[in-house]
Amino acid sequence: MALYTAVTDAINQYTGLSPAAFFTISAMMVVAYKVVTTMFVAADDYVAVKREHNISLREPVQVGSITEEELRPYNGSDPNKPLLMAIKGKIYDVSRSRMFYGPGGPYALFAGRDASRALALLSFEPSDLTGNIDGLGASDLEVLEDWEAKFEEKYVKVGQLISEKASTDDNKLHGDQIKAD
Ligand code: HEM
Repeated sequence: MALYTAVTDAINQYTGLSPAAFFTISAMMVVAYKVVTTMFVAADDYVAVKREHNISLREPVQVGSITEEELRPYNGSDPNKPLLMAIKGKIYDVSRSRMFYGPGGPYALFAGRDASRALALLSFEPSDLTGNIDGLGASDLEVLEDWEAKFEEKYVKVGQLISEKASTDDNKLHGDQIKAD
């Protein structure tokens, strides 16, 4: 008890604070220290994190002009391939948002596809997972333009979609892709 009294007296004498206030402030400083230090990563650790996640952090690679069919494998099923997604025929590397578009992500269904129609209509219907925007209204097209602006700003454009070989009917292609799901 004598020790306790000596300690509390010393605290009061040196800090002018009551022991309760002193311990509360000390605890808050420890918590603040912990919170702030978790916001930073040591340079060496960062290199390790980068190496571990080299898929999502690697530089986007240009794929040039490819068909929708060729775009499909870039849907996250092969971890060695980047995640790609197209809007209005323009292909973007969305690998940095693997949590959205990677397997199990809420928007995984858009990966490896031109999702223009689904985005314009804010739809998750499989039949809307297409780059065909025929028959959309002005407000739908406006929504699509907003998405396009967001993607232009956030992601690197790595290519563009080209239509299938001249003999392939575009509508048939979309139909086949949807049925394949
Ligand atoms: C209940 C309705 C919905 C909620 C609560 C919701 C919520 C969110 C949230 C919180 C984000 C993350 C935003 C960010 O951090 O930048 C997001 C992103 C996104 N949402 Fe939704 N969402 C909804 C519906 C939809 C619908 C209907 C679509 C399209 C069909 C959609 C497409 C997207 C896409 C593509 C992204 C990712 C954009 C990017 O790459 O940055 N969402 N959503």
